[in-house]
Amino acid sequence: MKLASKERGAAADRVESLDLQRFLTQERHPIHLVGVAGSGMSGLAALLIELGHTVSGSDKVTTMETDRLQRLGLRFHEQHRPEQADAAELVVCSSAIKNDNPVLVSGRDSGKPVVRRAEALAAIMRAKRGIVIAGMHGKTTTSAMTAHVLREGGLHPSYYVGAEIPILGTNAHWDPRSKYFVAEGDESDGTLRCFHPEYCLILNIEEEHLDFYSDLAAIEKVFAQLIEQTSGKIFYNIDDPNTARLCASRKDAISFGFSDKADYRGADMKLRAFGSDFCVYFREQKLGEAVLNVPGPHNVHNALGVIALAIELGISFEKIAASLRKFEHARRRFEIKYESERFLLVDDYAHHPTEIRATLKTARATGRKRVLAMFQPHRYSRTKALRGEFGSAFDDADRVVVTDVYPASEAPIPGISGQTIVDELLKHGHRSASYQARLEHVHRHIGNALDIGDLVLSLGAGNIHEQLSALAADLVIAEKLKAVVGEEADVCLYEPLSKHTTLRVGGPAQFWIEPQTEKAFAELIRFCRAENLPLFAMGRGSNLLVRDGGIRGVVVHPLGGDFDKIEVNGCEITAGAGVKVREVAYAARGANLGGLEWMEGIPGAVGGALRMNAGAMGSQTFENVVRIRYLDSEGNAHVKDRNELEVFYRRFPLLENNFAISATFHADPAERAKIDSRLRESQEKRRTTQPIAKSAGCIFKNPDSIPAGKLVDELGLKNSRVGNARVSEVHGNFIVNDGGATAVEMLELIDKIKATARSKRGIELETEVEIVGEPA
Ligand code: EPU
Repeated sequence: MKLASKERGAAADRVESLDLQRFLTQERHPIHLVGVAGSGMSGLAALLIELGHTVSGSDKVTTMETDRLQRLGLRFHEQHRPEQADAAELVVCSSAIKNDNPVLVSGRDSGKPVVRRAEALAAIMRAKRGIVIAGMHGKTTTSAMTAHVLREGGLHPSYYVGAEIPILGTNAHWDPRSKYFVAEGDESDGTLRCFHPEYCLILNIEEEHLDFYSDLAAIEKVFAQLIEQTSGKIFYNIDDPNTARLCASRKDAISFGFSDKADYRGADMKLRAFGSDFCVYFREQKLGEAVLNVPGPHNVHNALGVIALAIELGISFEKIAASLRKFEHARRRFEIKYESERFLLVDDYAHHPTEIRATLKTARATGRKRVLAMFQPHRYSRTKALRGEFGSAFDDADRVVVTDVYPASEAPIPGISGQTIVDELLKHGHRSASYQARLEHVHRHIGNALDIGDLVLSLGAGNIHEQLSALAADLVIAEKLKAVVGEEADVCLYEPLSKHTTLRVGGPAQFWIEPQTEKAFAELIRFCRAENLPLFAMGRGSNLLVRDGGIRGVVVHPLGGDFDKIEVNGCEITAGAGVKVREVAYAARGANLGGLEWMEGIPGAVGGALRMNAGAMGSQTFENVVRIRYLDSEGNAHVKDRNELEVFYRRFPLLENNFAISATFHADPAERAKIDSRLRESQEKRRTTQPIAKSAGCIFKNPDSIPAGKLVDELGLKNSRVGNARVSEVHGNFIVNDGGATAVEMLELIDKIKATARSKRGIELETEVEIVGEPA
């Protein structure tokens, strides 16, 4: 429902007749905020609570900020309902709130004044000497820096900043003692024109928010009005052409920057990995040296603006420099999420091409080997309008993974997605750019590509930082795992298990580890037990169907090193868990030992053959086993003889909770010719009755009444398929992957076969293949 223009007019009249400044800063009233969880709205709520109002608010999401505000007295509603405005004498709404929002509509209908966030803020500011920080990029950092420097300078400023600022404690604060009010001015919705400050500091002006503005001229018009409405001095970045053009001719304009013409001039800038040093001049006079512990040249610019303003307010350069040295970043502004000698993970709010370029440059300057970026475009309108610019913004990233657009409050624009940016990147010639539509998979994508010396950046104004946090949390564990298993063992994050299963299906392993020694394996078991991490052992990945969501916890792959050893001793052959079963047959042949030729037909490793008592040609593994060596669930080694072990058809329970290290098989002396003929027979059987396509071996156990392959054949299900999963035409008990099949498809086909066997023949088929992992 849209408000009729007459009603709009009435609401505006009610606001006109209200002395908003007096109402907000000298009186106390019940006030309701619609969209209170937004970063700007939550700051306003904090101010109103400090001003003594009774504040309620509604939003469709809860955040840490709404939790904190509730502790301060906010009455929070997690849904927008008309009656919430009943008790309020004023309704304040965020620009993201649509006109038909029920609280807004009921507020208006019942004759309450309704104002926008910036109008309320501007009214509060009028009670003090206002300082507005404006510009397309860097205003949160700069307004936080200003509030911090003024506070350290003893001016007790009130302030309002659009993000959580650890060094300030809160994002907004009302101090009754203060003369000044520092506010970040938001240009995105035109409300910058609400402000009538005494001072304003302009950082940069360029094309942005093209969902709201038709072009740069429209943006400049709003800035021009702000300048017009500023009663005192304007501080402006002389190095930004648009800003300089707009401000230079105005009287009381003070410039800052690196240009020779700047009133407050920076020089001799030395960039460090996480900060910079520079000299500051006021015209010809050297004021001194400044040290900044936030990185990048753009922050030196921001600091020069703050220095100019603070000096004009009477704070000494020495005091300013001491405060700047202590200044820490706002959240999500080159925020270090994880740091070790091997890896550095940094989150940044950059979402405009200019910001992305600056952040990547800063990342590059840290001197790490590679920079890997995960990027979440923010708003469909920005993605569409600036697509070309995005294409060239990532030159300093060695690899970019782009996910889908964070819509903010926008509806999708057909044909615009994360892929749009990837297309532009590739068109521009970027060396490695890919699209990952599912946000929750982005950290895996980057994590799997991670190498020692890498810096990973999350970029965007939406929720991409959660992906970096997920990666950081796993990296902490991965680094501990690495320390446990030692230098020679590989530890990988999110290894795709489709690379390691014969079926070529399966999502990633959260932690993939290839220990080389029994000792490392044992340590790993102990660590996982202590840390409550699931541990799954995987050999050559035959007879295994891993679901598309992969395996949570550690997947240990005992292959290589101790696990690949094979030794013949008299009539006994001892093979490590990672040795191919087939190799056992050939080692026996080499020593003129027979009876193991059937093993030629088993595709997996010894560990897997033991775990499922694999069989072929009428024989099964444990018929030839003499003893096995394994690690128990506490990492202790045991050796057990065959007669101590309980074994069933295709099942060996001991290895369901323990881990095979090696097995010793018995063979009998035999003539080489006999051995070769039996090997040939096995090969021939395999060649003629089994598919060569990618498969997991036999899918079902043979029921007593009929071999599963024969049954599937008789049911006429050969060649039936779900997606790219297909029943082999060669053997009915094999499902083959025709290329790119998913576990979901495999499982659906399995279910289809089981249902048909049940309904047509009354036979309950049981899978032989082991099915593990999480759904995608
Ligand atoms: N058959 C059909 N149609 C088919 C497939 C089989 O009529 O599409 C008939 C065959 O002609 C035969 C009977 O079914 O008369 C049994 O088939 P097969 O000889 O191929 O043996 P299987 O029981 O299906 C077993 C193992 C295989 C092993 C072969 C060869 C099981 C579940 N499977 O298959 O092991 O390679 O013997 O010795 O025990 C595996 O475990 O992954 C595996 C492949």
